[in-house]
Amino acid sequence: MTFKVTWFGHAAFSADMDGVKVLIDPFLVGNPLAPVSANEVEADYIIITHGHGDHVGDSVAISKRTGAPTISNVEISRWLSGQGVQDAKGMNTGGGGEFDFGRVEFTIAFHSSGLPDGSYGGMPNGVILTSKDGKKFYHLGDTALFGDMRLIGDKGIDFAALPIGDWYTMGPQDALRAVELIRPKAVMPMHYGTFPAIQVDAAAWAEEVRQKTGVHVVILKPGEAYEL
Ligand code: NI
Ligand code: MN
Repeated sequence: MTFKVTWFGHAAFSADMDGVKVLIDPFLVGNPLAPVSANEVEADYIIITHGHGDHVGDSVAISKRTGAPTISNVEISRWLSGQGVQDAKGMNTGGGGEFDFGRVEFTIAFHSSGLPDGSYGGMPNGVILTSKDGKKFYHLGDTALFGDMRLIGDKGIDFAALPIGDWYTMGPQDALRAVELIRPKAVMPMHYGTFPAIQVDAAAWAEEVRQKTGVHVVILKPGEAYEL
């Protein structure tokens, strides 16, 4: 079983689970860090954590080109259907479902979720992908620090991607607390460096997390991958 997570900058990832490509928050057009184009990226599924433009991103165009189903909350799935997405699966917070690559589960996230045209986008989510051999990747979405990260950590997280950019989400200090609550085997920062408002020193953050938690911190460059 292979489970490889490639970062496309910001909150955009491709999780390759035994060759099945699961995109998360594929914001590529307008993402200055994106190492791939929306016209070329491979996708078998597309997961969207919340309605903001830097997360819905190119989901509609990629789904239309590849035929990849989308997986999101029900409000976003209705909106995607209205945009012409053929197979928009609507789940909701706390729910999970089995797919041919493994399990998808939507966690809470404290943020907002309005869609790019002002439509109501439901509640924001984080997402946990579990491979068939039980490895867990937790993408926190955009969120503030919240105490129930401890409960999510009790599931046994192998790899977590968490926002550290401040302004729109947790900043570095709260993200350090998040690592302490989640207790993942490995962690990487995301949602930083993309825009002027979210410039933070990821290397300094990584060093502090290593010293204070002992958790393995992975700093990926856009296009690089971590294998669980
Ligand atoms: Ni957001
Ligand atoms: Mn965002």
